[in-house]
Amino acid sequence: MYNLLKGKKGIIFGALDESSIAWKTAERVHEEGGVFVLTNAPASIRLGNITALAEKTNSQVIPADATSVADLENLVEQAMVILGGKIDFVLHSIGMSVNVRKGNHYTNQNYEFTEKGWNVSAVSFHKVMQVLYKKDAMNEWGSIVALSYMAAQRVFPDYNDMADNKAFLESIARSFGYFFGRDKKVRVNTISQSPTETRAGTGVKGFGGFIAFADKMSPLGNATAEDCANYAITLFSDLTKKVTLQNLLHDGGFSNMGVSQEVMEMFE
Ligand code: NAI
Repeated sequence: MYNLLKGKKGIIFGALDESSIAWKTAERVHEEGGVFVLTNAPASIRLGNITALAEKTNSQVIPADATSVADLENLVEQAMVILGGKIDFVLHSIGMSVNVRKGNHYTNQNYEFTEKGWNVSAVSFHKVMQVLYKKDAMNEWGSIVALSYMAAQRVFPDYNDMADNKAFLESIARSFGYFFGRDKKVRVNTISQSPTETRAGTGVKGFGGFIAFADKMSPLGNATAEDCANYAITLFSDLTKKVTLQNLLHDGGFSNMGVSQEVMEMFE
């Protein structure tokens, strides 16, 4: 370990169970000397086992529905009290589509579900940043990261309305990132991650084929949740101070491939 986050304080959203990208990131932040508050929606706290992670990392859990500005205000205020000062890093690792959950095809959406999905998956990121910004809760040279997927740019039919939610999320990162950079010297980026076996990931129809295909197409193979956690650490560290407004592809090379030999062989 490198002590890359020694003295840094943060908030980590979205650790549901051991497979969550946020869970792995919290473990790595802890190893690197960072301290943090964990948060998730109240229902997810009941469903998962975040308290085990809290014990392991000496952190406290503050429930917050990321679509509720009141919850987020309470979270940020409490986090600053618990951690003893302003925040250096934030991980937004939240995504959910009701249309995906209910098996509604992209061409047959229930728009109430669509709205709920973009509120949870994208607008919540704006809300998190607006609360942090208004409360002046971030330290200078702080870092805010959200997780995205390449369906924001390219067609993956079964990713459904999450593709649109991710495009929305990435746009919010750029738009808010401008003001956060200019006014507070805080950077905002998204990590566009390989398909990963988590609760959210495996909820996508045809996930098994999808993850295997991506793996065979990528010269380095899929990036795992642990790999993603390591990448997030670098973005929270002082080694990446001038990286902002970026959608950072973390995918073993998948995004620049046309076709790989392994995939070609399946058709020969
Ligand atoms: P996960 O299911 O472990 O995490 C999703 C989290 O969102 C859960 O902890 C859940 O409680 C939280 N959440 C849902 N509604 C919420 C609300 N209203 N308020 C607060 N939290 C809420 O799955 P995973 O894969 O770790 O997901 C994390 C992020 O990574 C998501 O943004 C996801 O879209 C993204 N991602 C995942 C990929 C994958 O294949 N698993 C690939 C690329 C990006």
